[in-house]
Amino acid sequence: MTISFDWGGELPTLPATRVDLVWLAPDDAEAIFEIFGDIEVMRFWSSPPLADQAAARGLIEEIHEHFRARRLFQWGIRLRETGKVIGTCTLYELSMEHYRAGIGFALRRSAWGQGLATEVLVTLIGFAFDTLDLRRLEADVDPDNLRSLTTLERQGFRREGYLRERWHHMGDVRDTVLLGLLRREWMSST
Ligand SMILES: CC(C)(COP(=O)(O)OP(=O)(O)OC[C@H]1O[C@@H](n2cnc3c(N)ncnc32)[C@H](O)[C@@H]1OP(=O)(O)O)[C@@H](O)C(=O)NCCC(=O)NCCS
Repeated sequence: MTISFDWGGELPTLPATRVDLVWLAPDDAEAIFEIFGDIEVMRFWSSPPLADQAAARGLIEEIHEHFRARRLFQWGIRLRETGKVIGTCTLYELSMEHYRAGIGFALRRSAWGQGLATEVLVTLIGFAFDTLDLRRLEADVDPDNLRSLTTLERQGFRREGYLRERWHHMGDVRDTVLLGLLRREWMSST
């Protein structure tokens, strides 16, 4: 048995409290560059910082292509107060056969420390478990990325494994902490 979900032509908008998770538009390229062009945001990412706004436009096109191929589902995080995109969050390696997906998120630096990533995570976890009916979510985090580890562990993600020398990032070889959250754990905590 596999899960069936009708994605349609665009990602569904997922409302949180201060932000909405939205389909990215070409006009968001400037905001995307401000996020993924920042070396501090990209410190523990899997690709180098974007060079310019043209690269940000290319990234948005890639995000749309991945969605059409149902390979990767990446929402923009739009701050309600300003209407500006301040980050993105992702479901990747979504398996409808095995009821699982990976989860990822990034915010521009000026948005850190306000609980916004937590808000995003709660919304995306709810969508993954309640709407998509997944059983398991996983996250792949650099052991030195304490902000990300704290945010995930606060939602009940558990450290399940340590993968050595998994990434080659900006001239450095990096390990991974693999974390997992099961739907039954999430249900019993909410
Ligand atoms: C990972 C990342 C999204 C976390 O962002 P964040 O803002 O630190 O995360 P949270 O939303 O959990 O915010 C928690 C902080 O907000 C504070 N906070 C303020 N109001 C809050 C609220 N209402 N609820 C929860 N926390 C709140 C907390 O005290 C905490 O501050 P502290 O870190 O100084 O203790 C951000 O660091 C980032 O974009 N990093 C770069 C990209 C990246 O590495 N992504 C992860 C890849 S696996």
